[in-house]
Amino acid sequence: APPGLLQGLKVVVSAGPTYEDLDPVRYLGNRSSGKMGFAVAASAARQGAQVVLVAGPVQLDTPPGVQRVDVRSAAQMRAAVFAALPADIYIGAAAVADYAPRAFAPNKIKKTGTGETLALDLVRTPDILAEVARREDAGLKLVVGFAAETDHVADYARQKLESKRLDLIVANRVGVPGAGFESDDNAMTAFWPGGERDFPPAPKVRLADGLVELVAERLKA
Ligand code: PMT
Repeated sequence: APPGLLQGLKVVVSAGPTYEDLDPVRYLGNRSSGKMGFAVAASAARQGAQVVLVAGPVQLDTPPGVQRVDVRSAAQMRAAVFAALPADIYIGAAAVADYAPRAFAPNKIKKTGTGETLALDLVRTPDILAEVARREDAGLKLVVGFAAETDHVADYARQKLESKRLDLIVANRVGVPGAGFESDDNAMTAFWPGGERDFPPAPKVRLADGLVELVAERLKA
């Protein structure tokens, strides 16, 4: 077989949601299934990369040849990602919670009987992707982010590319049927400084192959 496009490179991929625990029985989560990130990890491994897949809570089998680290919260995901560095490439496909409960209640939160509402006190989680992109000692040649956007896809994606200092950002068109969260299919546009590439609707496993090809191209550029 010919050498893979990512032969000899180490790739760290994040995938899936994070769950932020409120108390022993409840958490804040999101609809990410992990399918997109797992497909990217599988594709990178097929192209010869050494792949570490940091996975939030998902119901998916580990792709062949991939080293998987399971985590639950954004804080755990951050720790596992940083433990997996240095690497040549970071691809953040996880839907990381932006906010987590300020404190974990050790006992189940009870209905009080007095009020009809309950306010949750939330604090910002660390932005793993932005932190990875700022690291200068991690050996990274390419940092790739994902963005879930419903509108102004190009504008918002380019803003994130710049503000988080990424090399590549992949915008999903969420809110259209058969794409984004949970679906087996997706549609996306990748942006980098000075260029973009459209990936029309297709199975996530096919799109992942296209993205890995683009990653290999951007590495050479
Ligand atoms: O898992 P699936 O069901 O297959 O769905 C795939 C997907 C839609 C979840 C995936 O393709 C995707 O778009 N992932 C990113 C979704 C997202 O959370 O976008 P965002 O705009 O909130 O975050 C932008 C980037 O910052 C992402 O690379 C994210 O991993 C990263 N981030 C965000 C917040 C945070 N605290 N830390 C981060 O690293």
